Amino acid sequence: MDTSIAISGIDDDPYLKNHLKICPDAIQAKIDSFAKAPGTIVDFGCGHGIKTIAMALRYPDAQVIGFDITDAHRRAQDFCKNRLEGGMPKNLRFQTVEPGTPLSQICQPDVIYSWSVLEHVSRKLLPAVLTDMFDALRPDGAVITQIAPLYFSPFGSHLKEFSDIKWIHLLESHEELRNRIYASPKSQGATGSAKWMFSRYEDLNRITAEELSQYFQAAGFSALSDERKTFDGDVPAPLLATYAEPSLRTFELNFVHGKSPLPQKRGLWPGRGAAR
Ligand SMILES: C[S@@+](CC[C@H](N)C(=O)[O-])C[C@H]1O[C@@H](n2cnc3c(N)ncnc32)[C@H](O)[C@@H]1O
Repeated sequence: MDTSIAISGIDDDPYLKNHLKICPDAIQAKIDSFAKAPGTIVDFGCGHGIKTIAMALRYPDAQVIGFDITDAHRRAQDFCKNRLEGGMPKNLRFQTVEPGTPLSQICQPDVIYSWSVLEHVSRKLLPAVLTDMFDALRPDGAVITQIAPLYFSPFGSHLKEFSDIKWIHLLESHEELRNRIYASPKSQGATGSAKWMFSRYEDLNRITAEELSQYFQAAGFSALSDERKTFDGDVPAPLLATYAEPSLRTFELNFVHGKSPLPQKRGLWPGRGAAR
């Protein structure tokens, strides 16, 4: 189902358009290419859960579970109550868990997608999180991963709204950067938001596309699709002397991983849905 039919006015609201249309379009394109007719879809690190609503509306025959270590998904529940005819879709539920709680104890998904999440997962948990995804995933399922912006890229600090100087987080000391962010015109009257965003910046695990790809392999996954977007402009010489150039240039990754590399073994032939 097209969520623009179910929810009026989303084209006029950039936030809703992004979460209910643009990102779900990208996730749906991957699901439809790599995991036809999924029975269970997990939004790993669903946050406020607005995208999760869109996915539940688009896959009415699937069980869609928003999984997070916070209960920010209360926002999605309020949204459904206030904006959706019929309230929360019957095929949607949210689950708050302790960090590291095995997904495999909760469900056996056909699709696990994470959108802007794996750069926030504690580095010491990350290999175990991917191994758990491997254990939980059904044999012909798919794990869809998006990260943007990656830490070493021009705006990898996630602080662009406070400073639009490329790589400022790699060029300035921690103290200088904090002072800059707190003093930015955007912070005036919104110091709480600047502090919150700066602490999110401090928590980033600084993962690169290459390192994450290796963690997926180590967990047993095969790469089904590996897309990386790169910045083609100039990079400051001191950064090139210090960091690997591909890491400085790669600002977005879109990965799809499966348990088996061969498409013909992954059930992507007509009729698989009926055979389940
Ligand atoms: C930047 S938010 C992205 C939220 C949502 N995916 C979106 O696109 O709006 C990152 C989310 O990852 C969640 N997260 C971090 N570590 C996690 C973990 N170990 N397990 C599940 N969720 C986690 C955070 O609580 C947060 O809600």
